[in-house]
Amino acid sequence: MNTPQTNFNINNIKSTFLRSIFGLQNQHLPIWLMRQAGRYLPEYLAIRNKAGSFMNLCTNVDLATEVTLMPINRFNLDAAILFSDILVVPDAMGLGLSFVENEGPRFAKTINTISDLNTLQTDNIMDRLQYVPNIIKNLKTKLPTNIPLIGFSGSPFTLACYMIEGASSKNHSKIKAIMYNNSDFMHQLLTIITNSIITYLNAQIEAGCDTVMIFDSWGGILTDRDFLEFSLPYITQICKSIHNSYNGIPIPKISFTRGLNHMIGNIASTKVIDVIGVDWTCNLSYARELTESHTTTNSNKVTLQGNLDPVLLLVGDKPALKKQVERILHDYYISNNESLNNLIFNLGHGVLPHTNPDHVAYLVDIVHDISMNFKM
Ligand code: CP3
Repeated sequence: MNTPQTNFNINNIKSTFLRSIFGLQNQHLPIWLMRQAGRYLPEYLAIRNKAGSFMNLCTNVDLATEVTLMPINRFNLDAAILFSDILVVPDAMGLGLSFVENEGPRFAKTINTISDLNTLQTDNIMDRLQYVPNIIKNLKTKLPTNIPLIGFSGSPFTLACYMIEGASSKNHSKIKAIMYNNSDFMHQLLTIITNSIITYLNAQIEAGCDTVMIFDSWGGILTDRDFLEFSLPYITQICKSIHNSYNGIPIPKISFTRGLNHMIGNIASTKVIDVIGVDWTCNLSYARELTESHTTTNSNKVTLQGNLDPVLLLVGDKPALKKQVERILHDYYISNNESLNNLIFNLGHGVLPHTNPDHVAYLVDIVHDISMNFKM
């Protein structure tokens, strides 16, 4: 649990992950992996079978805590991410979430017409999501003090995709019909979701999360103009509205839009996002160039997070992995004034099922080892 800290000194931070964000010297580069607790881990598959369903795992404090800690216990990772899902928020709004085996998420109810907005249960939403702060509080009693806990939510646009389409979608024709033909309706829905996410992320911070990440997984289906109208302003509003610090400790905000690397400069220009996720399709030097002229609210350099291809981790042998890690670090180093500061190593998207856990262990260790040859 967070206890009020009056004499907090940023230089005393022990976490390599947070030190990197604050531009402080580090022993090695921090690394964590999106979907680090997931189906590639045999112990995850075993516990999910025992729990009966994915949602039973997400809502049970002891089981969700255990799953969050699985990758921390197995690998030398530098951060933990809360085990949950972005879709628990629309579930709490009354849409009825289930996960169908080999099919992914499905909502019992969807948003089709503007009158459906009145049916969304947003009042006292934390009453229906209380299990999430309970998991966070439990995790904070178990995590080592140098391992920060990442809380998260979906972006309003990404959640709207699922709430309108009802499931994963190939070309997102339903949400695009509303967005192109009835933009007022779209903005009303995005505003409702934004307000709930602000409440939800603040509750995560108050329960003990050290940082929060917004997954804009479907931002990349938008034209750049539409991204600037329907996604980025809502992410910005969330980052502006949630706690900038809690108990005197700054709370960095991470945003990850998959598939729109050319918008990274626009994302940085909001100044309220401390860390920007970069998928695997662009070089980190390009991302650094786009962020160079911007700083964050706290006058820090924007931190980049990414960008190894998750398929390389799935199919690559160890020499191939090592070669790509060296390339990523080298490219970043050169473009970042010969320093690895303000970088967090990650994949460009989540760890894929069937990834070999031995390769994950190898990746984490070589990122640490190789990074020690560079200035940080
Ligand atoms: O380890 C972690 O990263 C933390 C847990 C986490 C999950 N989902 C667990 C999960 C996080 C951060 C998420 C985010 C999430 N969920 C996103 C954004 C990131 C991204 O992948 O783009 C999205 C779009 C979802 C929605 C979602 N959840 C889908 C589409 C699916 C099914 C397909 C898939 O990729 O598995 C899920 C299920 C899900 N969420 C699983 C896990 C471990 C697999 C469930 C299972 O079969 O056991």
